[in-house]
Amino acid sequence: MPHPPARRLYLSVALLATLAGLPVALAANFDLPVKRTDLSDADMKRVADVTRPTLDFSKAEPYEAMQAGATTSIDPVTEDSFSHISANIPFEEEQNFKLGNALFKKLWVSAPSSTQASDGLGPLFNARSCMSCHVNDGRGKPPEGGASATSMFLRLARAAKTPAEEKAIADAETVNFPDPIYGHQLQDLAVPGLAAEGKMAISYSEKPVKLNGGEIVSLRVPSYSATDLAYGPLDPGTTISPRVAPAMIGLGLIEAIPAADILAHADPDDRDGDGIAGKAQIARDHRTGAIAIGRFGWKAQNATVRDQSADAFANDIGISTPDRPDAYGDCTDAETKCRKMPPGVQKRLGNEEAPGPVLDLVTFYSANLAVPARRKASFPDTLRGKQLFYQSGCISCHIPKFVTRRDTAEKAQSFELIWPYSDFLLHDMGDGLADGQQVGLASGREWRTPPLWGIGLTRTVSGHSFFLHDGRARNLTEAILWHGGEAEKARNAFSSLPKDDREALIRFLESL
Ligand code: HEC
Ligand code: HEC
Repeated sequence: MPHPPARRLYLSVALLATLAGLPVALAANFDLPVKRTDLSDADMKRVADVTRPTLDFSKAEPYEAMQAGATTSIDPVTEDSFSHISANIPFEEEQNFKLGNALFKKLWVSAPSSTQASDGLGPLFNARSCMSCHVNDGRGKPPEGGASATSMFLRLARAAKTPAEEKAIADAETVNFPDPIYGHQLQDLAVPGLAAEGKMAISYSEKPVKLNGGEIVSLRVPSYSATDLAYGPLDPGTTISPRVAPAMIGLGLIEAIPAADILAHADPDDRDGDGIAGKAQIARDHRTGAIAIGRFGWKAQNATVRDQSADAFANDIGISTPDRPDAYGDCTDAETKCRKMPPGVQKRLGNEEAPGPVLDLVTFYSANLAVPARRKASFPDTLRGKQLFYQSGCISCHIPKFVTRRDTAEKAQSFELIWPYSDFLLHDMGDGLADGQQVGLASGREWRTPPLWGIGLTRTVSGHSFFLHDGRARNLTEAILWHGGEAEKARNAFSSLPKDDREALIRFLESL
């Protein structure tokens, strides 16, 4: 097979500076891989064959039930279904997973404390441990009725205002600009003696939607604000973006998908005219500064599990790590009292509140949580739903299959056939889902297609069924009905199905 010419991939992106009201067009221009480098041409062909979407819905495909390849967990279904180690991790590495798990659950305390190895919390924070938000390693939810918003928070940011700021985003030097007082997110908790920044307030209004056959589904339309602000008003340019914590499964495998295979689905200018664009997020690896494809977070703003974890330590818990060394977390210079609180650095343990090995172990844990095996993958009803999922155009974005890189650092993740049902690209999802917040190349209307594996176990693991980036959907049907923009056609295909067919499609999602 001839090698494709080495070419530069031009990503032309229209970024909406929504609050400023001005559409700002940016063209980012990076060298990105166009072909996998880890495989022979013969293996490339095998991969192309095995990842091509099936046309046969009469039976389950080979290996389909083992949706994360040899890493798939076949443990019985319980509320711990997302907390198992990848099935093929060698015994010697299990200890690191257990230590990582303990650190993921660890409750950090404010400095100075008698248990010095656990202090450094905050001074501003959203939660005291990773597990407080990623409960049972599952997804978070909006604060139903209660005041506590633990597994959800508001990101704060404004778009670029000047050509220099636009360039900084186009060059992936930054993803956006924090609120001058409140920083990158609203922390609703603080250590004793310091005022928390404020609270997230949500109100919902109901909007009825009629489906084929007359069934009426009510969608709840959220409205967000930051209240009880302790340090003055938000900057008028600051946008707020609500985010719930996603489930933690299969993340190392997502990192092991070759960038070229993600880019192969990108069509930023919709050249094929199918109404679906899809563009890759561009991020920088925190440690090397190298350009990489963003994969993690609802706007794909981080390239690696490690980068996402270091950001969580810094912004969500207020703990410094070698990758994010500021012990004051998200305290800004304007929050003078916060910057005078005692930090938790213990010189004998290192220069950070959580030294390198802590971040290493938490990253290892986060990257190796197993995806559970499918249930009922070969039941006729499930297969019917699968066919409808394909025919409705869902797989234009929820790409069924990938084969991971052969040259992964973690052997267990190498060359596995996986079924995440995502392209890991950004899509315009319409006004209904828009948050108006630009994050890197993602405009205020764009979101990363989330992987769907494990989604059918949400109620079992997390005790609720709230979906989408802010948990507004109360079940899978509502999640689909919120799809707009590039996904409007697929949404309409779903709402025009007869009730039995809609139910079959949902059965399919529940089997993932
Ligand atoms: C206050 C709640 C909260 C805490 C505490 C928290 N997270 Fe998260 N986590 C989130 C939210 C919300 C997101 C989605 C972020 C986004 O889209 O910007 C997320 C995303 C992630 C992701 C990316 C998952 C994906 O599918 O893209 C990883 C990995 C992660 N968190 C790891 C951690 C680790 C490790 C810790 C502890 C150091 C932690 N988180 C603490 C709320 C939290
Ligand atoms: C244009 C791309 C696109 C198409 C087509 C599409 N989706 Fe999505 N899907 C997304 C994005 C992006 C999100 C996340 C939106 C958000 O959270 O605001 C999403 C979210 C979801 C979720 C919720 C996931 C979660 O973790 O909360 C489900 C379920 C889902 N899609 C199912 C479907 C089904 C079924 C179809 C076909 C009828 C479909 N999607 C078609 C892009 C797409």
